Amino acid sequence: MSATEAHVESAPKSITVSPLAVDIGAEISGVDLSQPLSEEQRTEIWDAFNTWKVIFFRDQKLDKASFVAMSRHFGELNRGHNIHTPDPDHPEIYQVVRGRQKGRLTGVPAFDPWTGWHTDLTPAINPPTASILWGDVVPPYGGDTQWTNLAAAYDALSPTMQGIIDDLRGVHTYMTYAGVTMTQDLRDRIAANQKTTEHPIVRVHPETGRRALWVSPKFLQEIVGLSPTENEAMLAMLKSHAVRPEFTLRFKWTSGSVAMWDNRSTAHLAPIDIQRTDYDRQLYRTTLVGDIPYGVDGQKSKSLEGTPLLAA
Ligand code: SIN
Repeated sequence: MSATEAHVESAPKSITVSPLAVDIGAEISGVDLSQPLSEEQRTEIWDAFNTWKVIFFRDQKLDKASFVAMSRHFGELNRGHNIHTPDPDHPEIYQVVRGRQKGRLTGVPAFDPWTGWHTDLTPAINPPTASILWGDVVPPYGGDTQWTNLAAAYDALSPTMQGIIDDLRGVHTYMTYAGVTMTQDLRDRIAANQKTTEHPIVRVHPETGRRALWVSPKFLQEIVGLSPTENEAMLAMLKSHAVRPEFTLRFKWTSGSVAMWDNRSTAHLAPIDIQRTDYDRQLYRTTLVGDIPYGVDGQKSKSLEGTPLLAA
């Protein structure tokens, strides 16, 4: 069933859901996220989230406290980040502010090494179920975020390739970046919080049962059981397939926008273009505590290093 058919089958009553692309993304209107949500609103928002993978709200009047409160409507929250210092007053918030790595990295080439297509925190055994990002200060242009639907990417593979990858597993870890020098402080933080996990390459969604090509491009380092040459070719193919334009959506932020994405079936790309402007960009992120992924064969992910992500 396509996302569009699913949407038509279950038209919501308490909110308006406006799809933005055939396979991914919908804008939700008719809801004020600064106020408590009714059970009907919460359920219908969650249904839209499961169908469209990333949903957006516009013109929300939030502050950090109400952002945390609205995030809690959808589940228990993680600590803001397991490497970077969380917001001092709101430990659930990770501040996605421009220049947050300034002074920590030197020798940075023409791009910000913290970006790149990724699914949030997949080096952990329990990556978040969802991430919620509130745009407070946004640039007048530039700074867009992109998402890709990894379930659509899986569906578009040939049955033969699906059969080859269905029971494969991959190793996800935080990596170092060529051409980048980190301060000792950052090195120490990464070393103290390093996480490495073997996850299924094809993740089965715990709510919908849909399969996703769960290749978090920045964090997936190798496929278990393949030779180095096979790994190189297979990873290059799967990672480029996962982000083909037809599975993706590009979102233009306005102040007061909120994006909420299903980390179990998407990857996303933070912008690098604003580094070449003087515009500010301040976004705030919360993540919902996740469960342990499992694959087509039912086998769960296996931690190879480090501890699970902690609730706030
Ligand atoms: C993120 O990767 O969670 C942040 C995305 C963004 O800055 O657009």
